Formats: sequence, C-alpha cells, structure tokens
Amino acid sequence: MGVTTENIVWHQHAVDANARATQKGQQPVVLWFTGLSGAGKSTVAGALEQALHAQGYHTYLLDGDNVRHGLCQDLGFSPQDRRENLRRVGEVTKLMADAGLIVLSAFISPFRAERQMIRDLLPEGQFVEVFVDAPLALCEARDPKGLYQKARAGEIKDFTGIDADYEAPLSPEIHLLSDETNLQQLVAQCLNTLRVRGVIQG
Ligand code: ADX
Repeated sequence: MGVTTENIVWHQHAVDANARATQKGQQPVVLWFTGLSGAGKSTVAGALEQALHAQGYHTYLLDGDNVRHGLCQDLGFSPQDRRENLRRVGEVTKLMADAGLIVLSAFISPFRAERQMIRDLLPEGQFVEVFVDAPLALCEARDPKGLYQKARAGEIKDFTGIDADYEAPLSPEIHLLSDETNLQQLVAQCLNTLRVRGVIQG
C-alpha cells in the first residue's frame, strides 16, 4: 500500500462495459453474500448460480474459501488482513461485473465499512447485499468444517462470532433467514428480487 497512481493514466478502451453486457444480452449485477461462517452463503450462492446458469445467464461465483487458496493465500483473519482480502475481491468483483457477468460473491465480510467500500466501487444500483442470516448457535451446531470447535478450544484466533465481531447489515437488499427456510425457497427469494429489478426475465 501507500503506492500512488499519480503517474498512471487511465486508458479508455473502445469496447466498454455496456458493449460487453449487451453482447451477453444481460444486465450485470453483484450479489454480495455476507454472513457468519456456516450460515449457508456458499450453498445458497451455488444453488442460485446453478439456477441462473440453467436459464442461460453468464455468471461467476467468487467464494471466500476458494479465493484464499490463491489470490489471497497470503492473508489471515486480522481486521487488516480481512480488509485487504475484501479490497482485492471487491476489485475482482468489479472487473467481472465490468466484463458483463452476474457475479455472486460469498465472503463473511464482517464489517459494514468494507461492504460499503465495495458498494461504492460499483456503478449505482449494481450492488445487491444478501444477508444470509442464521443464529450463531445454529452455525456452531452445524460446524461443517469443524472450525467453531477449534475456535472454542483456542486453536484458531480471530474467529468471526467467537472472538471477532460480525456487523449484521442494517438494510440489505435481500434478507435470507437461512435457518427457517429451505434452499429452494431461498433461491426463489433471490430470483424474485432479480426479476423485480429487471435483471432477469420470466
Ligand atoms: S472474510 O472475513 O475475510 O470475509 P472469508 O469469507 O474470506 O472471510 O473467509 C472465511 C472462511 O475462512 C470461513 O468460511 C472459514 O472456513 C475460514 N476461516 C478460517 N479461519 C477463520 C477465522 N478466524 N474467522 C473466520 N473464518 C475463518
């Protein structure tokens, strides 16, 4: 960080975001899934992507666990590292939306400031915040990767919900109650919002 872009001039290329989206016959949008580990972000995002893909839409799913194996493998879970993780994936999300894709990004993204930073990176109306809301007790009981158990035992530090904060969205575009609703209904709720916003038809 601390590097300036002072001597770097933006090059405006002839094929722009609008041209790319038009060629794909779709309106790009970012579905930003936030929630505790184990809340179901990846599961819902994956099922939604399948539904969109089956309807012929061009999509890409960016998943926290996967990105941390590559682009962000040098980062941990301190507030600073999470901020850098989200800055990078926010920029990648922006590029993918600029390429004309419907982007599904699933990251704990625990702090409002970082989610707002990503919203502000994107054109007006393109960021759709999806709060995958499940009580901590349920996420901990599910514990699909055994990480809550390790966090309680003190083997993992800075674990969201245990010894690191999660700031729930105050007014998400989509609020999924992932403990009370089945997967198909959660996907239908997302599809319905995309329909109302004119992103998908039918
Ligand atoms: S974020 O906070 O920076 O947005 P991200 O979504 O990329 O997190 O990664 C979260 C995933 O990393 C979790 O699903 C979990 O599997 C794993 N993980 C490992 N250590 C931690 C930790 N200390 N806190 C939260 N998740 C962790």
